[in-house]
Amino acid sequence: MLTAEQNERLTRVGPGTPMGELMRRYWHPLAPSAELSEEHPTKEVRLLGEDLVLFRSAAGKIGLIEPSCAHRKANLSYGIPEPEGIRCPYHGWLYDTDGQCVDQPSEPEGSRFKDKVKLKAYKTEELGGIIWAYMGPDPVPVLPRWDLLVWDGVEREIKMMELPCNWLQCMDNSLDPVHFEWLHNYFGSYVLGMEKPPEERAEWKARMQSEGARGRHELKVGFDRFEYGVIKRRLMEGDTEESPWWRIGHPVLFPNILRVGQDRRHGFQMRIPVDDTHTLHMTMSVLIPKPGEQAVAQDEVPFSYPAVYKDNGRVRADWVLGQDQTAWIIQGPICDRTTERLGVTDVGIILFRKILEEQMQIVADGGDPLNVHRQEKDIIYLPQEESIYPGFDEPGGPFAGQENRPPMVEAILADKVDVSFR
Ligand code: FES
Ligand SMILES: [Fe+2]
Repeated sequence: MLTAEQNERLTRVGPGTPMGELMRRYWHPLAPSAELSEEHPTKEVRLLGEDLVLFRSAAGKIGLIEPSCAHRKANLSYGIPEPEGIRCPYHGWLYDTDGQCVDQPSEPEGSRFKDKVKLKAYKTEELGGIIWAYMGPDPVPVLPRWDLLVWDGVEREIKMMELPCNWLQCMDNSLDPVHFEWLHNYFGSYVLGMEKPPEERAEWKARMQSEGARGRHELKVGFDRFEYGVIKRRLMEGDTEESPWWRIGHPVLFPNILRVGQDRRHGFQMRIPVDDTHTLHMTMSVLIPKPGEQAVAQDEVPFSYPAVYKDNGRVRADWVLGQDQTAWIIQGPICDRTTERLGVTDVGIILFRKILEEQMQIVADGGDPLNVHRQEKDIIYLPQEESIYPGFDEPGGPFAGQENRPPMVEAILADKVDVSFR
């Protein structure tokens, strides 16, 4: 349970708020590169409570600038891309990708007025088929080259979902592995079963009542801090502590990216705060080709906007991401954490809130928070228990041989109820 002030500090992301200032220290994915095409060279976006226009110039350069033309405030998402930048549709002022006005065709010959006109602009970079934006202070940190953004010869796909809820609901969920058994297995099969014709439901109902409907029960969940965020691990019924799910786990990249995957599929789930009550959920999935097979060649990474809602207005829960999105949305625009009641299984959530508080303080004190990168690295490998990595023979890739160690925070769910914070 939090006080109203604590809940506000953790959730509000607008300019000048402690969380907004922390969030502005990170590169955020904003749109698929392929979305800015010749047919659609501009996009109205909103990030961390600020409205902006994203565009691609006729020379292919990306710009991210304040939305209204400095002259008479026309929205530049209606602008015309030119090699130098974007030209306002109203009177033709031209802005480059740094927001500098470089042409005012109707001002007198030789006028220097344009030199004094500059729109707010933010840095962008493209990596892995995604346009990333940085809205924080200088010096601009390095955009981390996470493994699945830089692998060659793989097949990528992006999904975009705009959700009417605060970003922290999505992240609370990532630190809460116990939801899997209920939200995905039990509720998920309930939703799918209810879509069957009535005469087929009896068999499905019987199956729902059996233990198997919830999948394997978790015996323990554990969380570790590591240099990029938090590693989550779980020990399931029938497994020993040698299982890669307990020994290796998979990470939450601070502050808002979950790594998921199994076998040949790896993925990121990125929860980008649009404003206090809206989140852009962007996922990237990466398929590693089988030995001897080649990935489908991709000139660009394809993207889609899967429906969040059904025709009847209810959140779509007939797929795994939809079940998570349902849970986030039905907690309300901003979850009321002042009346929540946390249990044993919520140790990960408690740990994450502590880290958020600590990192907001580091920013307030003028420091670099967790997972801000200052040094270029060619590739940063991330653990993902049972996944196949390109160039590695064993599942788990570079982490396959990793030894077990006690987690930093652990909740024991079977035999006895126990929580330990180290
Ligand atoms: S409003 Fe943009 S040039 Fe006049
Ligand atoms: Fe989930």
